Amino acid sequence: MIIKPVIKGVVAKTAHPEGCKQAVQNQINFAKAENNIVDGAKKVLILGASSGFGLASRIALTFGGAEADTIGVSFERGPSEKGVGTAGWYNNIFFRQAAEQEGRIAKNFVGDAFSPQIRQQVADYIRDEFGGNVDLVVYSLATGVRPNPATGELWRSSLKTVGEPFSGQTINIEQNSLEDSVLEPASAADIAATEKVMGGEDWQEWIQLLLDENVLAPSAKTIAYSYIGPEATYPIYHQGTLGIAKKHLHATSDVLNKQLASIGGEAYVSVCKALVTKASVFIPAFSPYILCLFKVMKQHGLHEGCIEQMQRMYSQRLYNPTAVPVDEGRLIRVDDWELRTDVQAEVAKLMKELNAGNFTDIGDYQGYKQEFLELNGFALTGVDYAKATDMEALTLMQP
Ligand code: NAI
Repeated sequence: MIIKPVIKGVVAKTAHPEGCKQAVQNQINFAKAENNIVDGAKKVLILGASSGFGLASRIALTFGGAEADTIGVSFERGPSEKGVGTAGWYNNIFFRQAAEQEGRIAKNFVGDAFSPQIRQQVADYIRDEFGGNVDLVVYSLATGVRPNPATGELWRSSLKTVGEPFSGQTINIEQNSLEDSVLEPASAADIAATEKVMGGEDWQEWIQLLLDENVLAPSAKTIAYSYIGPEATYPIYHQGTLGIAKKHLHATSDVLNKQLASIGGEAYVSVCKALVTKASVFIPAFSPYILCLFKVMKQHGLHEGCIEQMQRMYSQRLYNPTAVPVDEGRLIRVDDWELRTDVQAEVAKLMKELNAGNFTDIGDYQGYKQEFLELNGFALTGVDYAKATDMEALTLMQP
């Protein structure tokens, strides 16, 4: 079977397994070349390990100096009569193979991280087969829904403003166009549901379970990821539904930090750079900003992808040999280059010029689309896309 990219709006309907393998390998090569995480975690649980920041965390911690064994939890689909499966499914497989080749443990749990069954299976595995405990828990889930355990109903997150509506423009990757979009103001119920899905409650429940099960090592750390961005995007993100959920996540890190003090542990949130991931392409009206940001950061030689961000975060922040550097809100900042005054001044200037007719010239649409395709295993150098993929052989491979 020849696999081609099929894109609907901003969703990739296909993924190329060999390309995913190459994309994972490229990240591994970067981490190995850096090799600068000193005294990092050795036993790590990553929730949301199959793509974006979670996968990059796993690769950085395994190959970038710490030599960690990892457990990855993710929600992905394998090949079936319905399709070739998701990129994250293949990322799990090829990450595990590469890690095992170097003598590392890389256990994958594919299932719903919100379900009590998966949580218990993970805790049991840590206790019985992973050496008894973990010294780092990375919380990198990104999802639109979370089941309410009391009722079974789903909380659904919304990408909305709070207060006034916001008119902007959003990329349609399928059509290569920039389209008008309006973010509607959220209701109180929208805000509450988004906080349930993307806030800190589930992170806290995971840490509580791991504490109760006694599978956190003395001095264990936990970290979750957030975004703030520049003031120009506040109405869309920081002051919108997602931003409110992230503030809840930040507050949760303080609660967890106090709670973990009992075992000498710590909890942090790292505020990261805006990047193209499966989750972020959904954020309406965010595209003009990200296109201009990529253009300017590349011109300054400051552009980073997920692996560059995570390698820097672990080597210079969380495992900083002196102390974990944090801002006045106790947040780790690796959005520092994005928010540099000179970068933001140039981004603001470009955003004034950018429109539906010129966005491919003014902004870095080519780079944006390239990163999107690579996320799904397409457009990678070194992959022969004319070669047929043996789906039967792939079906036999398990994460
Ligand atoms: P992503 O979509 O690439 O990865 C999400 C991960 O969560 C995947 O491994 C997926 O399988 C897993 N997942 C989703 N629902 C699950 C479930 N029910 N059970 C188990 N696993 C599940 O997302 P991305 O962008 O890496 O996001 C991770 C975190 O980083 C989020 O908190 C996001 O807000 C944050 N972040 C993202 C930025 C960006 O620009 N992409 C910027 C700053 C922070």
